[in-house]
Amino acid sequence: MHSDLRHRRKVARTALPAAVLLLMGSAVVVQSSAPAAAAETTLRAAAAKAGLFFGVAASPNRLYPIVGQEFSQLTPENDMKPDRIATSSGGLQNTSGADTLVNHAQSNNMLVRGHTLVWHSQAGALQGASQATLNTFIGNAINRWGSRIAYWDVVNEALEDNNTGRRRNQWPHTMNRDANGDGDFFDAGDTDVMRDSFIRAKQVVQAGGLTTKLCINDYDVDGLTVQGGTPNRKANALYDIVRNYRQYIDCVGFQAHFNDNPNSIITDDLQANIQRFADLGVEVHITELDIDDDLSNNDIGAGQAENYRKVVRACLNVAQCTGITVWGISDSESWRSSERGLLFTGGNGSYQKKAAYHAVLDELNKGRNPTTPPTTPPVTPSVPPTTPPVDPTTPPPPTTPPPPTTPPATGCSATVSLNSWTGGFVATVRVTAGTAPISGWSVQLTLPSGATVTNAWNANRSGSSGTVQFSNVSYNGSVNAGQSTEFGFQGVGTATGLTPVCSAG
Ligand code: G3I
Repeated sequence: MHSDLRHRRKVARTALPAAVLLLMGSAVVVQSSAPAAAAETTLRAAAAKAGLFFGVAASPNRLYPIVGQEFSQLTPENDMKPDRIATSSGGLQNTSGADTLVNHAQSNNMLVRGHTLVWHSQAGALQGASQATLNTFIGNAINRWGSRIAYWDVVNEALEDNNTGRRRNQWPHTMNRDANGDGDFFDAGDTDVMRDSFIRAKQVVQAGGLTTKLCINDYDVDGLTVQGGTPNRKANALYDIVRNYRQYIDCVGFQAHFNDNPNSIITDDLQANIQRFADLGVEVHITELDIDDDLSNNDIGAGQAENYRKVVRACLNVAQCTGITVWGISDSESWRSSERGLLFTGGNGSYQKKAAYHAVLDELNKGRNPTTPPTTPPVTPSVPPTTPPVDPTTPPPPTTPPPPTTPPATGCSATVSLNSWTGGFVATVRVTAGTAPISGWSVQLTLPSGATVTNAWNANRSGSSGTVQFSNVSYNGSVNAGQSTEFGFQGVGTATGLTPVCSAG
């Protein structure tokens, strides 16, 4: 967390008229008689139409109707942190708050982001634990909620403050060892709590056949630069981590707590930074968004509503930016209430929309701009895959084994995993070569009626509804025997029961 927060002065905003909703039970249904081009009237509906989720951080005592009405994703603000749920031996305790949140999300068709497994702060009984104990906790936490958690923050805030680009020098990072003294922790002989925690998490997800994606999350990593054009070394360090550990990391979270700290401002290279991570093949999320309403030294935009617009636009303009989460509902209930950084005023279930709300809704309703496909090929990890450390203290997770993954005799096969929310979905397709290498591939699948692809990454696409064809791009057509590559696409509607058919050559 930042230590140098300052109180800001208010800026008055004018609210635009609120739009009309038709509520049915706990779900929000936008009137079906509205013309197709009509603007959506909730954040979640507008986001779904643009092909992304729009989420909120929540606590069990604040599960007011607005949560399911406006948001399609939920992050427990505090209830899944180790200081709430971990025992000193890596077991689980006090999960009732987290269970309540997961159940609420499920009954409101919201995705859940688990937050968080490995963090220097709020570690509770895990403070000072060994990697083996962390691994035990990782296994227990992931298996408790399984695929009900779409995204887990496996590692949170691993990098130092003040734009040094270094890892923190406090537990758990004190377990790190740079074996050959070359200044990084990426070598096979090094010890890196990040790498080893991701390896463990990946092992658990694969053993359980889970669709859960594994993320790294941090703050002050949003732009390519910080104030004054200085390179954002913290963002660069995060980029190196994701590039080196790409095989274990599925998604990157930019916390996006924007304030007057020189390293925490909104810069006009936010979109370019999102894009370079996306080009590594990971999903990017804005995970904890709040914007100081008196952000006076930002490089772009003016005023809070305008700043929200800029951030939402930067995400919309990158196909692999698949979700935005605000860190709370209203200013008065925010961890930074003095900055009035959120989209609503009011409290205790009675909320008023701010100008920032209307700006976000309007920007979401404009949808994604056509984007050029990634031009930078994903960089091959400089470190060969390491053997996942086996934790003898942890029994294998009590889950059904994943379906057999025997590659076909020749050609290729494809499997799809889906993360869905009301009105939208993200699909990840894994293409696996058979017993011979392939030099190109195409995957055909038929979407259910009403589903439309809005964007795709790491593949060329023809068609957007009905039967849709994807084929390799320049850098991922060659796949060695038995090896895999992945592409993704995002869409609106429902996409259950997809059966991809892969052809090689
Ligand atoms: O619930 C207790 C209450 O019973 C007690 O009386 C009170 C006294 O201090 O404390 C309450 O707990 C507080 C909790 O928030 C709930 O309000 C904790 O002290 C306080 O430390 C905790 O702060 C949270 C902080 O993380 C530390 O975990 C904030 O709510 C939460 O918004 C913040 O979230 C973090 C993300 O996890 C990571 N990124 C930064 C972000 C903002 O700091």
